[in-house]
Amino acid sequence: MHLFPAHPGRPLDIVLGIQWGDEGKGRVVDLLARDYDIVARFGGGDNAGHSIEVGDTKIALRIVPSGALVPHTRLFIGGGTVVSLEALAAEFDRVASAGVDLDRIAISDRAQIVFPYHVTLDRLGEKQRGSGAIGTTGRGIGPAYVDRVARMGVTFGDLARPEAVAQKIRAALLARAPVLAAADEVPREEEIIARTLELAGRIRPHVVDGVAYLHDAMRAGKRILAEGAQGTMLDVTYGSYPYVTSSATIAGGACTGLGVGPRAVGNVIGIAKAYCTRVGAGPFPSELHDEIGARIQELGHEFGVNTGRARRCGWFDAVATRYAAELNGLSHLILTKLDILTGFERVGVVTAYRRPDGSLAGMEAFGEAGITPEVTWYPGWSESIREVREISELPGNARHYIEEISRLVGVPLGLLSVGPERSAFATPFPAIYVP
Ligand code: GDP
Ligand code: IMO
Ligand code: MG
Repeated sequence: MHLFPAHPGRPLDIVLGIQWGDEGKGRVVDLLARDYDIVARFGGGDNAGHSIEVGDTKIALRIVPSGALVPHTRLFIGGGTVVSLEALAAEFDRVASAGVDLDRIAISDRAQIVFPYHVTLDRLGEKQRGSGAIGTTGRGIGPAYVDRVARMGVTFGDLARPEAVAQKIRAALLARAPVLAAADEVPREEEIIARTLELAGRIRPHVVDGVAYLHDAMRAGKRILAEGAQGTMLDVTYGSYPYVTSSATIAGGACTGLGVGPRAVGNVIGIAKAYCTRVGAGPFPSELHDEIGARIQELGHEFGVNTGRARRCGWFDAVATRYAAELNGLSHLILTKLDILTGFERVGVVTAYRRPDGSLAGMEAFGEAGITPEVTWYPGWSESIREVREISELPGNARHYIEEISRLVGVPLGLLSVGPERSAFATPFPAIYVP
């Protein structure tokens, strides 16, 4: 039985994070991938870090889709991504040593290349923002997307024409020269060109016509799972702007990032942690600055997969996730890390924001100075739930808590994750909240 049955004529399902990233997308995609033929990344780059645990194998993927440990799947890096050749080559080495057949991996000719000067520009930009720094991952993601819309980016398709690549790198460096002059180490043009062409030899066999690749597969009746990166609240347009990433992380981004129309989309599955975390700066109304936040951080090992930075922690924010449910048109909700909340006397859910004048508000107040979270409390549970495989086995208070979340977000719960390993999930069928 498929965990999320296909809708007839709609071969593309989307899985994405509905908070600030790190919701457990890698772990969920690894589980769901068994029902699909292709797993596809549609946005972001190596700012992502998606961890998977299967038995003794633990890997963190940055660019390669999280179907890597499901051998029958093909892995596709879509046109909406920005990818560093250096990071991609390093990841090829890492996954190959975990036994992944690299022939399964294809990258769209429309995907854009992140160069070392994008990384330099990312760091310079953060320095310039001073106390208003975003806290980016420093991977050059923002500047690479800037070059894309400025129509001066270099695509993976370009790698077939070394002369054009060299000329485009020279032009990009010339355009950025005034800013790059402030860098401690000014990028060396000829070195970058030589290294790019060297890496191109290794990457080029994986470059495909990304549109034909997916549309041929769909015509052949294949099922595709689009894997989001980052999270809805980091979306460049609808997230907590300007404290966001530079790409469309929402469901619509899967269509543009893969070159597929919305009528191909069936299930849209949103993943949320049973609490909330955020890396980097920006508003986070449900953040806990006390020992409870510190306890969640410790129990949940809330440190970035990619940069090692501590993640800020807080209660589940039902206001922001309800907004995310709307933006994505979610059909299902998957909750992760419920096991981390075991042992708390009570657990909170933020159900409104309170303005300094005492009035209650919803998403319209998000990001306003001085708002405080309005917390609704639920009784906790002390029994370990790591072995629970069906919702009916949950302690009553845990079950009540997830039912309330599902009701507050307005989306039926499709699956519950109670541990990092592949087997640690519980099925709630039938869906426990039917709007
Ligand atoms: P992603 O970026 O959304 O793929 O998430 P990350 O991999 O960056 O961070 C999620 C972390 O939580 C990883 O270390 C996972 O192994 C872990 N994880 C995922 N789901 C669960 C869960 O249900 N319980 C526990 N304890 N850990 C989980
Ligand atoms: P996954 O896919 C959590 C955050 C950064 C910063 C902001 C902008 O693992 O969930 P960027 O380097 O993208 O310009 O940084 O976005 N950020 C993430 N936070 N998980 C991620 O990815 C993230 N990717 C970017 O911390 O606040
Ligand atoms: Mg992550």
